[in-house]
Amino acid sequence: MAAILSSVICIFMISSLILLLGLPNNNNNISIPRGHNYNINQINYHHMELILTWVPTFCKMKQCLPSAPIDFTLHGLWPADNAGVSLTYCPPPSPPIDLTPLFNTLRADLELIWPTVTPFMSSQDLWEHEYKKHGLCAFPLLSAQQYFRSAIQMTGNMDLLHFFSNKNILPSDHTAYTRTQITGAAREAMGNQRFDIYISCKHFNRTHDKLYEIHLCLDQMVTNYMTCPQSPLFRGCSPGKLILLPPSM
Ligand SMILES: *[C@@H]1O[C@H](CO)[C@@H](O)[C@H](O)[C@H]1NC(C)=O
Ligand SMILES: *[C@@H]1O[C@H](CO)[C@@H](O)[C@H](O)[C@H]1NC(C)=O
Repeated sequence: MAAILSSVICIFMISSLILLLGLPNNNNNISIPRGHNYNINQINYHHMELILTWVPTFCKMKQCLPSAPIDFTLHGLWPADNAGVSLTYCPPPSPPIDLTPLFNTLRADLELIWPTVTPFMSSQDLWEHEYKKHGLCAFPLLSAQQYFRSAIQMTGNMDLLHFFSNKNILPSDHTAYTRTQITGAAREAMGNQRFDIYISCKHFNRTHDKLYEIHLCLDQMVTNYMTCPQSPLFRGCSPGKLILLPPSM
């Protein structure tokens, strides 16, 4: 135990030393291993990914609260690079941002678009987790206030379920739709702009998938939709399968 502890401390000291020695003298250009490769004071993200979850599909995998809505909710707003790879765990600014006053101001709006659906974390824990993991990688171009306000604005203005029902795409265990029908309805919700929309699915049976998430891309300031490469994390729905929107948890 003591040996493990001392080697951990030793590794920690060596890495601190490397980090210190690696610091250039005249600028803030800190080199960090690949995957976390960014320069402080430099904007490293190319676009933002808005990810909406079809809650019933999520709740078939994870335990959910009785209050979980049968609807799309925001999963996250993720800065990504020009290959579609989302940037995570960027270094927090110093002094750290106190998100509490912001959450107090925006709580009612955030609860509507970005509620927790599981008993394992509060909505505020979810917002804080998403901000620390993803949102900070858009800072300082996008302040915390801009990040959360944009999320509210873009998600609140897009009533996907309503557009789906206009297109006769209804939650059902039996009636399924093609990928084109689903992305077409989502496109209509975005004002029929010709931008990439990606969807992901979970397996239902040999012939059918369940809709899981919808990914849309926005520019750096979360103002306009734009085309973007498909995230490597994102898995499309199986070609040739029809897609269901499960109507219940
Ligand atoms: C910072 O590092 C990157 C990548 O190594 C390099 O392209 C860039 O010119 C550097 N910037 C400065 C100010 O040194
Ligand atoms: C898969 O589920 C759908 C929807 O309930 C059903 O219509 C279809 O027959 C099922 N396919 C198989 C291979 O069981």
